[in-house]
Amino acid sequence: SRRVTVRDIAAAKENGEKWPMLTAYDAMTASVFDQAGIPVLLVGDTMGACHLGYDSTVPVTLEEILVLASAVVRGTERALVIGDLPFGSYQEGPAQALRSATRLVKEAGVGAVKLEGGERSARQIDLMVSAGIPVMGHLGLTPQSVNAFGGYRVQGRGETAARQLVRDARAVQDAGAFAVVLEAVPEELATEVTGVLGIPTVGIGAGPNCDAQVLVWTDAMGLTPGRVPRFVKDYAGIRGTLDEAARTFAEEVVNGAFPSAEHAYH
Ligand code: KIV
Ligand code: NA
Repeated sequence: SRRVTVRDIAAAKENGEKWPMLTAYDAMTASVFDQAGIPVLLVGDTMGACHLGYDSTVPVTLEEILVLASAVVRGTERALVIGDLPFGSYQEGPAQALRSATRLVKEAGVGAVKLEGGERSARQIDLMVSAGIPVMGHLGLTPQSVNAFGGYRVQGRGETAARQLVRDARAVQDAGAFAVVLEAVPEELATEVTGVLGIPTVGIGAGPNCDAQVLVWTDAMGLTPGRVPRFVKDYAGIRGTLDEAARTFAEEVVNGAFPSAEHAYH
């Protein structure tokens, strides 16, 4: 069966169909989501925290995205796999962005790329789209700018910030993007942007009226330790499941209950 394409994504907006997106960073987890029918998987630079142990997305390199994106593509058959452009792989300008995106398409096999920024990234988006690479935008809380924001907080609050976000959304669309992530923005503003744009909005902490919803998989399945943002819902509680299983395994090894006869060769 063929993969989901950006044409399917465009058709969904025309038909008023909402769709889910999850992040994925490895072949096995991605295969679960693919077989469960999640149509779009993002190999996000959130791998920095989830997979690589960094405390932000800023240190993530293109080489790291390439390795994990290749794994996600290999582990899936149906999903549109999107590769995130990490900090430092597109900020120099359109030529650098195209070079980075081309590596993600050729070496990892992704079907699209994502980058942060509105007006500031429009020339990058335009060149990549001209080259035949589908691009997803990302507005609102753009974590690669955490040092400029001075932390992770809701964006687009107040009239000036709201008008800028609408201008950014239009710039992303006009540059040719096929969709745009809205992260941590007030529901009312996300609703307005969703109504203004012809391309789908993908909300994360942006309320129920976006065309699609994305969650970081480790958040959505309850693997992330400690406090998670308000917009996260835990669907699986797997941190507790894994913790309990690891303790039981340890106990059974120590007390000799594992391996039992059925797990031994004779
Ligand atoms: O890297 C990521 O996981 C993302 C999503 C949160 C949209 O950019
Ligand atoms: Na990201």
